[in-house]
Amino acid sequence: MAPSSHDSHAKIVDIDRAARRDNHPSTLARAGRERPDGVRVCCRAEATSVDVFGAAVEARGFLCDAAVAAGHELGVFEALADAGPATVEQLAARIGVVPGRRRLRALLDVLAAIGVLSREHAAASAPTRVAAAAAVPARPVVARAGWGLLAEVIRNDQPLPVEIASAGARPLHDHLASAGAAAAHELAASLDADSLLDLGAGAGTYSQAFLAAHPAARATLVDSRDVLALAAVHLGPLIDRARFVDGDATTVDAGDGHGAALLANLLHIHSPEMCARLCAAAARAVAPGGVVVIKEMRVDDDRTGPIEGLLFALNMAIYTEAGDAYPASQLRAWLAEAGLIDLSEGRLAAAPDAIIAIGRKPSGSAR
Ligand SMILES: C[S@@+](CC[C@H](N)C(=O)[O-])C[C@H]1O[C@@H](n2cnc3c(N)ncnc32)[C@H](O)[C@@H]1O
Repeated sequence: MAPSSHDSHAKIVDIDRAARRDNHPSTLARAGRERPDGVRVCCRAEATSVDVFGAAVEARGFLCDAAVAAGHELGVFEALADAGPATVEQLAARIGVVPGRRRLRALLDVLAAIGVLSREHAAASAPTRVAAAAAVPARPVVARAGWGLLAEVIRNDQPLPVEIASAGARPLHDHLASAGAAAAHELAASLDADSLLDLGAGAGTYSQAFLAAHPAARATLVDSRDVLALAAVHLGPLIDRARFVDGDATTVDAGDGHGAALLANLLHIHSPEMCARLCAAAARAVAPGGVVVIKEMRVDDDRTGPIEGLLFALNMAIYTEAGDAYPASQLRAWLAEAGLIDLSEGRLAAAPDAIIAIGRKPSGSAR
């Protein structure tokens, strides 16, 4: 498998590019403003810094506008106003889209979070329903490219192709390395291990930080050959303590007995089934007593926020086959399924919109 083409950050850059292409003014990131052309901006999200997703912060107003425009194009507002509250599946049937994947759900999550739909919780065990808000939002004008094709993506249940720049993946990974550096250094300093298995290592941002923080430690980086070549450059002199393994992280032999295994910004590209396999592979590869660490964008268990995580999930719905932003309860479930214990969650000061989930391999486990 050549996983690099499914790099979520490519889509993040794509968001940014789409916003620039549409000449989208950064003032749109502020709530309740009107554009010079009189179109109301519906996004009520507050501007905060967002780790590697920060590239899109300036474009947040554009993303919310695109979500509202897609709601209009799909007939979401009319269907809810005419026939009352609905679950995702009921609404999908009313407006004639495929409900199976998470694309429509991701759109509804964003529309509810920005207040142009509301949520109803009938009973604890009943699925959440969405309902029309008091007023139908104004229909923003959005160019038909990237996020502007959201309605089409949801209707066809097919992701958009990811544009890779003519210079290849290098500019993207350079961007990731600098955007993720602070979070990587903070996380690396907290890891008490003498060896790291970095699954989906990308440009090696996390391995680089780990090797720098632990001068006697070693790192094994797993990714596709092309991406690992970029990581080798990024590691500089630290390369002496690094090993590179080209292949699919779920199946490749990257050795065992690692002190820690890291899945940083990897799971959101993949389906739940693949995420479970990635967590299991990480758990197999660590030594008894070792830890598996996940770093991801954060979304609440009930998917009511934060807006950054919900927009990120919608971005995954647009640009990946089956990726998503997964709540902490789901991350914990995969770690537990993989046989890990002492599950815990944490946050990074350098990446307030991210979540860290950690599980430990029992000391008595077979290696
Ligand atoms: C979003 S990037 C994250 C890179 C790095 N962990 C970071 O946080 O900066 C995801 C990386 O995972 C790699 N990847 C995706 N699926 C993979 C798989 N099944 N096996 C190995 N690498 C994978 C991609 O090639 C890409 O470099």
